[in-house]
Amino acid sequence: MRIAQRMSNIGTETAFEVSARARALEAQGRDIVHLQIGEPDFDTPANARDAAKRALDEGATHYAPYPGIPALREAIAEDAQARKGFPVTPDRVFVTVGGKGVMLYAILGLVDPGDEILVPDPGYPIYESLTRFVGGTPVPVPIRMEHDFRIDLDELASLVTPRTRGLVINSPANPTGGVLTRGDLEAIADLAIRHDLWVLADEIYGRILYDGEEHVSIASLPGMAERTIVLDGFSKTFAMTGWRLGYAIVPPSLVQTYGQLVINTISCAPTFAQIGAVEAIRGPQEPMAAMVEEFRARRDLIVAGLNDIPGIRCLSPKGAFYVFPDISGTGLNGRDLADRLLTEAGVCVLAGTAFGGVGTGHIRISYANSRANLTKALGRIGEFVAGLPAEAAIAGSAR
Ligand SMILES: Cc1ncc(COP(=O)(O)O)c(C=O)c1O
Repeated sequence: MRIAQRMSNIGTETAFEVSARARALEAQGRDIVHLQIGEPDFDTPANARDAAKRALDEGATHYAPYPGIPALREAIAEDAQARKGFPVTPDRVFVTVGGKGVMLYAILGLVDPGDEILVPDPGYPIYESLTRFVGGTPVPVPIRMEHDFRIDLDELASLVTPRTRGLVINSPANPTGGVLTRGDLEAIADLAIRHDLWVLADEIYGRILYDGEEHVSIASLPGMAERTIVLDGFSKTFAMTGWRLGYAIVPPSLVQTYGQLVINTISCAPTFAQIGAVEAIRGPQEPMAAMVEEFRARRDLIVAGLNDIPGIRCLSPKGAFYVFPDISGTGLNGRDLADRLLTEAGVCVLAGTAFGGVGTGHIRISYANSRANLTKALGRIGEFVAGLPAEAAIAGSAR
């Protein structure tokens, strides 16, 4: 069968492929600790599950309105207004299949061939992949450990050209856990307004924040709601990855475009799942608060443990559930270390380059796993690194 030409421009999300590799090793009897998966290891809160089950029994088995059921759009609008700090009306809310749907529609609806889109590097790989897929040019914005995994604002400004149309930001970030400050966001907003750029603000980890860090939505800054698409969803906040529910808050000028794209692709997100999601937002929030507190304890465990391993340097991230340590002191690059950790040590992590070229000397670890498993993985990583030839480690640390 002849594959369409455009498929040569699409990328991937390595986590899914690496997970398949790890499962194949497990099928051969190997014990693998999974630290590659970007999903909470908690169950969806029981009240949301019960609401969805009830909905099925009560006949919510039909199409929903294409932008989402009114009860959910209202709940999202109220919640966003309260937490993100800008006025949101339900008509600007679209419920999509995963947060990924929000990305797809933003890029399909806004990027023309030849347009340049600024994307974080390292960053979630789908921004880059979809931009390329529609003929746009993704322009990597380096996000460095030396800069606290925040954007260097001068560097960002230097990357804007007359062809730049949009900018993707993600805070708290995958894969680094970095969080942009209010000052960073104000400078980014200023740049976006000056150059007439739209912003795709991926806030899917906006409630997974530590140490009293505040969640600032760029859409709440003056002049930004009309040029920002906010991406959020249920996958991470409520441990609902398998429910496939995300949402967009779009400017009024994008409502029709989003509607057409939803109708052309999914018709609507699953109806009974949306009823469960209303309960997740409106019901008791204690389970998600407890989950975040557990993530904080695990973060402290993994950061301390990694920093105890010679050749590894790890920042303590302020949000999400990932660490992105610099492992160049081991003498290996991130890809080789990830590969060997899986095959030789039974620990599955991702190479930093799965998220862009800037991540060459890094690996990404998801600490959405039990403390016992994190401790086991730290022991295995430490032992593996200690067994590497000393010359390699010296060469690596001198780099
Ligand atoms: C930064 C970021 N945005 C969006 C998504 C997609 O989320 P969903 O599972 O809701 O499609 C992910 C999932 O890993 C993510 O890390």
